[in-house]
Amino acid sequence: MKVYVPGDSAARSVGADAVAAALEPHATVVRTGSRGMLWLEPFVEVETPEGRVGYGPVTPDAAPEILRNEELCQGLVEDLPWLRAQTRLCFKRVGVVDPLSTTDYETHGGLAGLRKALSQPPAHTIEEVTESGLRGRGGAGFPAGIKWKTVAETPDAQKFVCCNADEGDSGTFADRMLMEGDPFTLIEGMTIAAYAVGAAEGYLYVRSEYPDAVRTMTQAIGEARKAGWLGKNILGTGLSFDLFVRVGAGAYICGEETSMLESLEGKRGMVRAKPPIPAITGLFGKPTVVNNVLTLASVPAILADGATSYRDLGTGRSRGTQVFQLAGNIARGGIFETAFGITLGELVQDYGGGTRSGRPVRAVQVGGPLGAYLPATRLDLPMDYEAFAAAGAMLGHGGIVVFDDTVDMAKMARFAMEFCAEESCGKCTPCRVGSVRGVEVIDRIVAGQDVDGNLALLNDLCELMTDGSLCAMGGLTPNPVRSALLHFPEDFA
Ligand code: NAI
Ligand code: SF4
Repeated sequence: MKVYVPGDSAARSVGADAVAAALEPHATVVRTGSRGMLWLEPFVEVETPEGRVGYGPVTPDAAPEILRNEELCQGLVEDLPWLRAQTRLCFKRVGVVDPLSTTDYETHGGLAGLRKALSQPPAHTIEEVTESGLRGRGGAGFPAGIKWKTVAETPDAQKFVCCNADEGDSGTFADRMLMEGDPFTLIEGMTIAAYAVGAAEGYLYVRSEYPDAVRTMTQAIGEARKAGWLGKNILGTGLSFDLFVRVGAGAYICGEETSMLESLEGKRGMVRAKPPIPAITGLFGKPTVVNNVLTLASVPAILADGATSYRDLGTGRSRGTQVFQLAGNIARGGIFETAFGITLGELVQDYGGGTRSGRPVRAVQVGGPLGAYLPATRLDLPMDYEAFAAAGAMLGHGGIVVFDDTVDMAKMARFAMEFCAEESCGKCTPCRVGSVRGVEVIDRIVAGQDVDGNLALLNDLCELMTDGSLCAMGGLTPNPVRSALLHFPEDFA
């Protein structure tokens, strides 16, 4: 019997290692990534002539008798509605392959994108990425092809590709799951980017809170070198590109690209003023591609299947798929990769199953701790960069955190300011001092002290932080505060 047990850290945190150990005397166990149905973890898949049959959540006691356990049996994995409803491009191999097997990777379509890129001039690859409509998945949504073109056209003998895997937004875990479940896709995407812009060296900046991802990526890079996918003569083409993992030290601000570059250079993670943009003056002052994990992991499929097939998915200027992450008080949390345009309500209610507590949804925060709080009446919003911006919100990195009707939104607004005070790099005054004053003002409002005067002060402070902060940390912190005031004024009474 052959069984697949996730080695993903979400699955391991609920006992997947013990389940794998309990199965080992009875079956050949392959450790994979997670399919992203986190409420079913540890989710064990058993190979059968009809396809893989899934069981979950499995305990070590139940593991040896798994085939007889009808209660845990979820049926054929590929027929599960949660998976069937998705369009998995980035995540198509996650949960399917052994993350460290180069053979498995190629058998499941890996390297087709890189081979296609290498068969044509670099400029053609950039055109293809531009044509696909791919936008930065870190949060800002800047067109990836335009960024690459800037790097390619900036003359310099040395250029870099840096992948930002400092996934710090609350409720986000897609970068981690991709790195743990299918690291070669990221390596392939970074190699394509390097070829397109003329870089010979790349860095993967991973947060220290992701030890499993650090280990998997480091091992995968070693395997890729052995297979001739990285190094001096990639796939026999004479092209050189090598990749190195660097581990952050736990600062949220190192997810901001210039701060990440400072950290990569061995300095304290402080934000640099822009311009100059990293595409022109980046790592060690050289032209540098800085992209998020999911941006780079989207590239192999774009090259392999063509820009049009990617562009055909999505809505408006939000093309392709986004890997949404369902978290917080939600019945069925996990990864849901689908084309832009699906509504927030479909994700939260239909696929997420509403709240885990069973109480009504009151608020949803999309886009991490700097994202706006949306009331349940806005569950009709389509997941689309422009629609969210028009509603005073942002998609960010695709994290969705759900709250039920017991949430105190004044506390959440206070938390936004507190988080900013804690994580501010300290370089500019509106953020460093404004966030501390913000906590104090909200405390006075909640205590009933001169409520009107302090509300006016809070609004002024938010305006100042938005207009005067050097980066998104201070500049976007007013989003959750203002949206809480706008949609939930009764909590500040
Ligand atoms: P930004 O709008 O300044 O820049 C976006 C990207 O486009 C950057 O890489 C920038 O260098 C590049 N760019 C801008 N103009 C360019 C040009 N003419 N040519 C080439 N490249 C150009 O946004 P920023 O400050 O980098 O990111 C803010 C976003 O980060 C927020 O919207 C938020 O959603 C997100 N964020 C994500 C987090 C995460 O954990 N993933 C954490 C915190 C914030
Ligand atoms: Fe640093 Fe905050 Fe200013 Fe950004 S806004 S540069 S995090 S002090």
